[in-house]
Amino acid sequence: MKGIILAGGKGTRLGLLTSVLNKHLVGVGDRPMIEYPLSTLKSFGFDDISIVTGYEHVGIIVQYLTENHDDLNFTYKVQKEAGGIAQALGLTKDICKNDKLVAILGDNYFEDDFNGVKEKFEEYNLGAMLFLKKIDYNDDLYYVDKDGIKRAKYGIAELSGMEAGKGRIISIEEKPKNPKSNYAITGLYMYDSTVFDKIKKLKPSWRGEYEITDVNNMYIEEGRLGFNFVKGFWSDMGTPETKIKTEEFLRKKSKT
Ligand code: G1P
Repeated sequence: MKGIILAGGKGTRLGLLTSVLNKHLVGVGDRPMIEYPLSTLKSFGFDDISIVTGYEHVGIIVQYLTENHDDLNFTYKVQKEAGGIAQALGLTKDICKNDKLVAILGDNYFEDDFNGVKEKFEEYNLGAMLFLKKIDYNDDLYYVDKDGIKRAKYGIAELSGMEAGKGRIISIEEKPKNPKSNYAITGLYMYDSTVFDKIKKLKPSWRGEYEITDVNNMYIEEGRLGFNFVKGFWSDMGTPETKIKTEEFLRKKSKT
């Protein structure tokens, strides 16, 4: 199985913080943001990691990781244009070949440890596995987009059969105006190698991106999508608010 960090995009939601610096090197707590997804992949047991990033900042990312991570081996893929998560993942096709993969967004923080999860994914023989986090139905769930429309901040799962203990995801919507639940799809994904054929079929979404949510819906149609719940703290770190929220969590954690 391959471990991949998707560290592309322009990071405009962080404003001046990303005017000259790559988003994934912006400090969160006492270290650059990319350290957190790296730890998550290490907890899966990966020590060979592929990084997908934009051409403008690849140099500084290579410099940072080379100088600070003798413990890991890196392969790099460079994105010419920021075209969304699915497009970035598509660039790793020749690295993954027929292997399965774990991909994490470079701005996602997970408190959980994922030791043993790779092995479970192999054992269940699923096509894809997602990680869901229940978000409070308050301001945490929503944002107002550039057209003034209130939307959920995340991809949101519609679940069925939870009462019977045999829950499944029946649909996923990307940043819906009327979310069907408060279960967010976090930025951690496990896929089999058919993901690359699915990515090829995508068309750009309403926000002009090749959406990973559309890929996930293809796995639902095939009946090959599994999921887990994230137990510990989870947040993205890609906006000033979510970065501060993560830093507050880290500060409290360091005191316990
Ligand atoms: C992306 C995904 C979304 C997911 C989120 C998690 O959103 O498109 O489905 O819930 O990451 O961080 P984006 O960072 O592109 O807004």
